[in-house]
Amino acid sequence: MELSPSRVFFTVLSLFTALASGLVITSTGTTPINKASGQSVKLECMFTLAAEDTGPLDIEWSLVAADNQNMDKVVILYSGDRVYEDYYTPMKGRVHFSSSDPKTGDASINLTGLKSSDSGTYQCKVKKAPGIGSKKMQLIVMGEFIID
Ligand SMILES: *[C@@H]1O[C@H](CO)[C@@H](O)[C@H](O)[C@H]1NC(C)=O
Repeated sequence: MELSPSRVFFTVLSLFTALASGLVITSTGTTPINKASGQSVKLECMFTLAAEDTGPLDIEWSLVAADNQNMDKVVILYSGDRVYEDYYTPMKGRVHFSSSDPKTGDASINLTGLKSSDSGTYQCKVKKAPGIGSKKMQLIVMGEFIID
């Protein structure tokens, strides 16, 4: 195979494109997470950065509205090296980042004292410009069954 200048050019170009794909959310898993009320859950959101992702790191978790009449609700935010966790009153004191240092690639959160009203679709959004990534996951919290 002849190594023509154009072949070298396109090989280098495609290599560069692959390297420049930027921030990637590496956590997979698409099945709904089932929990009973009162339990805790870790919602996974691991990410990797690329060298060109040099902007400030922002991590935003929101509870996605079930219909388009309602707004998504921010539940916790990491921005400018700080954690802001008092966005969503129904979850006050029950939502925390799993890692003490989310910028190392762990944007996961823990929810404690689960209630059936915590059920819904959660979205993890990680931004470090020009890199951006997001992942959605469904949480189902079963209520208590009282049998007598
Ligand atoms: C989050 O949950 C995981 C799994 O249940 C647990 O190992 C970890 O200690 C928790 N982290 C915090 C900060 O509560």
